Amino acid sequence: MKTVTLTMPLDMHVHLRDGDMLKIVAPLTSYTFSGALVMPNLVPPITTKEMVKEYRSRIKAAMESDDFEPYMTLFYQNFSREFLESVQDDITAIKIYPSGATTNSQGGVVSFDIEPMRETLEAMSDFGIVLCVHGETQGFVMDREAEFMSVYEKLAINFPKLKIIMEHITTREAVEMLDRHPNLYATITVHHLMITLDDVAGGMLRPHLFCKPIAKRPHDRDALLKIALQAHPKVMFGSDSAPHPKHAKESCGCGAGVFTAPIALQLLCEIFQEHNALDNLQAFVSDNAQRIYGICAEYKEVVLVERDFVVPEIYADVVPMRAGETLTWSIERVD
Ligand code: DOR
Ligand code: ZN
Repeated sequence: MKTVTLTMPLDMHVHLRDGDMLKIVAPLTSYTFSGALVMPNLVPPITTKEMVKEYRSRIKAAMESDDFEPYMTLFYQNFSREFLESVQDDITAIKIYPSGATTNSQGGVVSFDIEPMRETLEAMSDFGIVLCVHGETQGFVMDREAEFMSVYEKLAINFPKLKIIMEHITTREAVEMLDRHPNLYATITVHHLMITLDDVAGGMLRPHLFCKPIAKRPHDRDALLKIALQAHPKVMFGSDSAPHPKHAKESCGCGAGVFTAPIALQLLCEIFQEHNALDNLQAFVSDNAQRIYGICAEYKEVVLVERDFVVPEIYADVVPMRAGETLTWSIERVD
């Protein structure tokens, strides 16, 4: 049977939540990943040094393995240089959300005007703190990401030393932006490599595939696939695995988020194998992220085997993507 060994897989965009949900999902991420960049959109959002430290401790306590590093983030505000200097060793990145763009983003920014953000973004550049961006405007839902490209451009030009990550990109326009500015990078989810809007809403509505940014058109998915499969040096894997309780997804007013943490590596093997690109998976799930972020991940080796795996219908209270379906790759062991 064919096997694939991945060393130090990293998930550079994950939602671990807090409380009972954290206890459900954290072990699923720490089982197969060496580390993950943890999003700060809790209620209330993570905005102080104490909150970062306490949240990190709760994550470590919820993990079932010690060989996992939660890379912490703050929820963007116009932080002072003094504050950033004091917190730089406790965080890896700061995540900026447009207000109201997605789950728990009400405290995000209402404008991307440069001047009010200058002190913060210059200090981040100087301290080597990465800026992660949820890049969507308030426009028509299918156009929001493409419309945001001018904001990325403005940020990249005004802060050339700042590393800017276009999070969970979903469009050809975002792919085309990557090589235009040396300081722009991107994460790509596994679900956006697989689905289009048709899968979400083309037939019966599938709430477990509803996320922000919404999946786009086939040509967008193909553009994402192309750079992921070649492990373009400026892209890395970020699952955006975002658990919501079953009743909240299967309801009127379904929250955005696809839960993929326990099946992400298996799905990536499937996709990369289908396109004869398994040799590039290591770079996509680890090496690129380590280089881009300048991190040295905790040692972990994950062996996957080409053997059927039936995805559980539910993990405690959370329905995963592909629930009840059979995947063609399984986790064989983790060392
Ligand atoms: O679909 C999403 N869910 N997109 C995000 O940006 C946030 C996430 C969540 O927190 O549920
Ligand atoms: Zn996210």
